[in-house]
Amino acid sequence: MSEEGILQEIFTSPLNICLLCLCLYLLYKIIRGDKAHNTDTDQEEQLPKMKRRDFTMAELQEYDGIKNPRILMAISGKVFDVTRGKKFYGPEGPYGVFAGRDASRGLATFCLEKEALRDTYDDLSDLNASQRETLSDWESQFTFKYFHVGKLLKEGEDPTEYTEDEDAKDDSDLKKKN
Ligand code: HEM
Ligand SMILES: *[C@@H]1O[C@H](CO)[C@@H](O)[C@H](O)[C@H]1NC(C)=O
Repeated sequence: MSEEGILQEIFTSPLNICLLCLCLYLLYKIIRGDKAHNTDTDQEEQLPKMKRRDFTMAELQEYDGIKNPRILMAISGKVFDVTRGKKFYGPEGPYGVFAGRDASRGLATFCLEKEALRDTYDDLSDLNASQRETLSDWESQFTFKYFHVGKLLKEGEDPTEYTEDEDAKDDSDLKKKN
């Protein structure tokens, strides 16, 4: 039988078309089920939205997904709640090194080494133009995907007093995102 003959056989037999449809349907379910299972489910959905607030480097470290189930990370001085990305930033995740830390330098230089991140406030002044651009691309991506909780405080900087108004505004922001 020629190749054309085989294709014709497959696409003209009603039984084969049904089997093909079944296969596609199962494939669709597998892919969809996988997504539903891995992303925004269970625990992270139960965590209430964090009140807007600022963090010192030390306060941020608490939110590493182990000491506290919530995972926060900072990029360019902004603190994001990345708990819904637990598969990336959780203790088992490929980017777990960023949990509870200022990830800026790692993201800007595409480096996942723990040593690339600093324990004291990092002003990032030595980054060059392309590294800054990389970092700002990451920042937009995170702004789009995750809730922005507040800012990362420099040494000795006072936290902002956020009003209820600002909290309410964030609610509507988040609804758009989810
Ligand atoms: C061999 C190298 C790498 C591969 C193959 C890789 C692969 C991927 C893939 C497939 C995703 C998307 C996953 C998804 O949306 O489901 C992703 C996301 C990500 N990757 Fe990588 N990656 C690599 C290296 C890196 C490096 C070096 C960094 C940082 C320094 C990095 C940081 C990230 C971050 C922050 C995300 C976004 C996760 C989120 O949406 O919250 N990756 N990577
Ligand atoms: C910035 O630094 C990186 C790493 O040292 C280098 O590969 C890149 O070419 C530099 N870019 C510019 C614009 O200087």
